[in-house]
Amino acid sequence: MNSSQTKVAVIGASGYAGEELVRLLLQHPFVELTTVTSRQYADRSLAEIYPRFAHLPKAQKLIFAELDATRISNASDVVFLALPHGVSAEAAADFVGLGTKIIDLSADFRLKDEQVYSEFYGKKHAAPGLLKDAVYGLPELHREEIKGGSLIACPGCYPTSVLLPLAPVLRAKVIDPARIIVASLSGVTGAGRKTEAEYLFAECNESVRPYGVPKHRHLAEIEQEIAGITGKPEAVQFTPHLVPVNRGIVSTIFTDLAGKADAIDRIFNDAYGREPFVRLLGDKSLPDTKNVAGTNFVDLAWRIDPRTNRLILMSAIDNLTKGTSGQAIQCMNLMRGYEETAGLL
Ligand SMILES: NC(=O)c1ccc[n+]([C@@H]2O[C@H](COP(=O)([O-])OP(=O)(O)OC[C@H]3O[C@@H](n4cnc5c(N)ncnc54)[C@H](OP(=O)(O)O)[C@@H]3O)[C@@H](O)[C@H]2O)c1
Repeated sequence: MNSSQTKVAVIGASGYAGEELVRLLLQHPFVELTTVTSRQYADRSLAEIYPRFAHLPKAQKLIFAELDATRISNASDVVFLALPHGVSAEAAADFVGLGTKIIDLSADFRLKDEQVYSEFYGKKHAAPGLLKDAVYGLPELHREEIKGGSLIACPGCYPTSVLLPLAPVLRAKVIDPARIIVASLSGVTGAGRKTEAEYLFAECNESVRPYGVPKHRHLAEIEQEIAGITGKPEAVQFTPHLVPVNRGIVSTIFTDLAGKADAIDRIFNDAYGREPFVRLLGDKSLPDTKNVAGTNFVDLAWRIDPRTNRLILMSAIDNLTKGTSGQAIQCMNLMRGYEETAGLL
């Protein structure tokens, strides 16, 4: 197991995902955080912008900088891109040219097909030539590819919460992949730290609403990964909702049973029994975001409804940790040969 230090940069460290990366990387035993970028906070210290890190000497010394790929590449072994989609692909192209390993948190490298990207994101891809090199950064499904990857595309938060419960039962062919219906609930940090009226406290508090119906952007990668398991493209029904909490996602997935119901416990135990970040609740309890907030765990439960012959899968994650930044660090640990849980437990 490697125990040498890795120099890392967080590009977009003033956003929610970037801040969560900083929180986790500052306490990682094998990481030296060398660079944090932000346009709005350029030349100000990490401690000034994030007083919760002010007790750490490193936070006094680290100064937000503008994005200068050559300088950052010289100071880093790995860069985390916590930028909006579109911006991220442009930055990635610069870092690839400089030979730096990239872990991208945006949607820019999750889809294999640039036409599908244009369809769901409403713009042409800024670096389509790199798509073939990207590895989908869901360690529980793509661990070996991640280990050898140079450009990791971290999954979206909703896809993480949906694909982890679905993958084992799809592989085991015990559900009908053509009849999957998902309802997900997300906290407000999922929308990023932007000032838009619909995310103001008074607009979200004491209120719950669906959005992105019927074709939310995350559907593209959910369907891509499902097709990767079943070998056949299928449309999924997916409805996200905004709920008035800061962090957390709960997904409830309704599936039609196509195989033996009594095999479900064994299927999940075989798939995830040894996974460090998957906690199987089985039929003992139900997932709750308060149990995963601030952690890299996904809590999974399932129930069979004999009246409808459906298997109901349920998951809870923290959108900023297992849904983004924690998962990104899990990928870095795999790439660098560290214990997969380093800095995350
Ligand atoms: N929030 C989540 O739960 C979540 C989950 C999964 C994936 N993601 C993905 O992670 C990425 C970051 O999300 P977020 O929620 O942290 O967003 P955010 O809060 O809006 O932060 C965006 C960051 O990008 C920087 N930025 C914006 N435009 C830029 C530009 N043109 N050039 C350079 N820097 C720029 C901003 O910094 P300055 O404006 O200070 O420069 C800020 O640091 C997104 O692609 C998002 O889809 C987020």
